[in-house]
Amino acid sequence: MNFELVVEKIKRNIEPYQTEPRSFIYLALNENPYSFPEELIQQCFETMDPTKMNLYVEAPLKEFLKELVEYVSTNGWRAKEEQISVGNGADEIIYVLLLMFKDLSIYVFPPTYSCYEIFANALGVKVNKIALKEEKIDVNSLKEVLNEGCVVFLPNPNNPTGHLFKDEEISWLLNTKALLVLDEAYYEFCGKTFAPLIDEFSNLIILRTFSKAFALASQRIGYILADPSLIDAYNRIRLPYNVSYLGQICAMTALRNRHIFQERVKKIVEERERLKTTLKSLGLNVSDSQTNFVFVYLKPDEAWKIYSALLDRGITVRMTELGLRISVGQPQQNDLLIETMEGLL
Ligand SMILES: Cc1ncc(COP(=O)(O)O)c(C=O)c1O
Repeated sequence: MNFELVVEKIKRNIEPYQTEPRSFIYLALNENPYSFPEELIQQCFETMDPTKMNLYVEAPLKEFLKELVEYVSTNGWRAKEEQISVGNGADEIIYVLLLMFKDLSIYVFPPTYSCYEIFANALGVKVNKIALKEEKIDVNSLKEVLNEGCVVFLPNPNNPTGHLFKDEEISWLLNTKALLVLDEAYYEFCGKTFAPLIDEFSNLIILRTFSKAFALASQRIGYILADPSLIDAYNRIRLPYNVSYLGQICAMTALRNRHIFQERVKKIVEERERLKTTLKSLGLNVSDSQTNFVFVYLKPDEAWKIYSALLDRGITVRMTELGLRISVGQPQQNDLLIETMEGLL
């Protein structure tokens, strides 16, 4: 073996990470349709300490960690600083967790967030796939296999369907003793979290991100909540300065001004509900998404027809094996989307 063979092998086996090219209206990546408020950008710069720019700044920053503790604490439950760490987006945390647990059996339940498998492939980690049955976890196929030697990656709400799993499904998974990585990337759009359970279950990891509700996808800030011993292990494996100073300042500023984002989340949720109702009234099979996107179940040929017609009008959505995933846009963008779909159906 030499390096050229290694490079060849990678090129043969690993697909490059690709997304659809940007279009006039881009509804393919579940981004926040509203940009980060300009007045807050000013505030970020005022908060930044210019004497820190040349330094390696810790991640998480102490002030940011304090804000995070306040933010994640909920319903009388209070998080501890030792239960939290950060990543370069939730994606990096997923990558690091796969690296940490590469010798265990990894499970995902398709349709699910595609990056679990993409990153596992890049790391040479095998992934076991047990398909959901009508949006439910297939307990029968799993009860003999899940145990403490397994790691389950599950987005809740799910991506691409956007539906929330039932409490009983989550508690069933936790009781198998498998390590459960519950990806709450869309938490703010549904308000449902299992974070307080990290006190009780040392096999529970919660992931969250600033990319969606806080409109900071460009800054790559995610965080992980889990038992202090797991966080300690995670901090030893991840890179020491994995999150930029500017990114952390932006996330902290967003938290300090969260009422602005909460108002916008409300608007996005209203638009999501409008999209769901309208698409259903066109006779489409729409899932009960609790996120910032909607999902329409379609046969591949129907999906392709609608996908192409939307593209012709400059609207990009995401094609999946089971149908189309459409991020909620600004109201006028959603109007254009609906108008195009009405013309087709
Ligand atoms: C379920 C889920 N997890 C994680 C991510 C990635 O988040 P981040 O931008 O923080 O890497 C996404 C992004 O679409 C997602 O849908």
